[in-house]
Amino acid sequence: MLRGVILGTALALMPLGAASEPNADAYQTEAGALTQAERAAVRARLAAEIEEERAREEGARRMAQAEAERIEAERATRPLGVRLVEARCLTCHDAGQIDSTALGAPGWTVTVLRMEWLNGAVLEPGERGVIVEHLAARHPERNRSEWIGLMSGSVLIAVFGFGALVWRRRRWFLRQAR
Ligand code: HEC
Repeated sequence: MLRGVILGTALALMPLGAASEPNADAYQTEAGALTQAERAAVRARLAAEIEEERAREEGARRMAQAEAERIEAERATRPLGVRLVEARCLTCHDAGQIDSTALGAPGWTVTVLRMEWLNGAVLEPGERGVIVEHLAARHPERNRSEWIGLMSGSVLIAVFGFGALVWRRRRWFLRQAR
């Protein structure tokens, strides 16, 4: 069986082999051969093409390098805060989302902390201060209401905590009285 398959395959492939066998017609005869001058011309044309290709590659490389340098220079001239917001915040947000938020330093501190603790933003040590300062400098107008909000929030928490404490004590007192 296996032998039959091998034999059959070999037989089937034989004409292919025969066809690819070079014959006398495939060789250049003296009559069709290039003259010395023609050969030199072909060689010169190939050399020119290779040179052209090399120049094209070199040009592309130079352009890519110039572009990289331009981006690097632009980065260096922009403030650290801008770059940090780009690197640490715009991975999740588009710029409009952050621009449309108006907060002062306390509000931005709480927001950035929330990003770190709840939403998984990752900052290097010391970056939070720079980011908060930068963002707060852009939209400082809500500073006062933020403080009022933070204060009233804290007061509410304190009042509820105290209330809960009193409530528990009250039950304890009632139990003692019985
Ligand atoms: C890993 C993703 C992630 C990163 C990084 C991140 N955020 Fe957010 N951010 C979120 C998600 C999710 C929400 C929506 C849920 C929420 O409000 O907590 C949000 C909401 C916000 C909001 C609108 C909500 C509000 O209450 O103000 C602001 C402003 C914001 N982020 C600012 C920032 C700033 C500034 C940074 C950079 C320090 C940052 N985010 C980095 C995920 C991220």
